[in-house]
Amino acid sequence: MNQSFDPQRFRQALGAFTTGVTIITALDADGTDVGMTANSFNSVSLTPPMVLWSLGHSSTNIAAFLQAKHFAVHILAADQDALALRFSQRGIDRFAGLPLERGVGGVPLLGGAAARLECRTAFQYEGGDHVIFVGEVLAFEHWEREPLVFKRGRFAYAVDKTTST
Ligand SMILES: Cc1cc2nc3c(=O)[nH]c(=O)nc-3n(C[C@H](O)[C@H](O)[C@H](O)COP(=O)(O)O)c2cc1C
Repeated sequence: MNQSFDPQRFRQALGAFTTGVTIITALDADGTDVGMTANSFNSVSLTPPMVLWSLGHSSTNIAAFLQAKHFAVHILAADQDALALRFSQRGIDRFAGLPLERGVGGVPLLGGAAARLECRTAFQYEGGDHVIFVGEVLAFEHWEREPLVFKRGRFAYAVDKTTST
């Protein structure tokens, strides 16, 4: 590998790619709820409906998601930044006190999102230090809520650009 390749600067360069923010949830092999914040989510295919996201090999959740037959994607609303932080923290019960619904395969579903997708794990690919999960969307819901944005390592609002006439 090129020795001058600086991972920190690479990370900063990638931060120019502004994204939404999701929380991905599943059940682990014991039936325990797992979930984490991810901005690597993207759409893949309309027919069949497919999406993807990637999870670091060093994640405490890697074994759970590798064996999970289903997962749910919550596309977070603008007022859910505290929830996004909570689901990125280690050493806490991320689900404590949260009202949950159950989706396909028993996956935990959180409220308040801008959209929610229930997926079947269709493919898993090695992607360097991450695993790429491709899910087939089995069910979805969405609400008229403004989305949460992640830009250059910080949460942000999306603002419409007005075209001058
Ligand atoms: C806005 C945001 C986006 C994130 N996106 C990802 C992601 O796409 N993939 C990933 O593996 N970790 C991502 N993380 C980090 C995880 O949420 C989590 O902090 C990390 O994996 C450590 O916790 P864990 O070991 O329980 O997974 C993101 C964190 C934040 C705050």
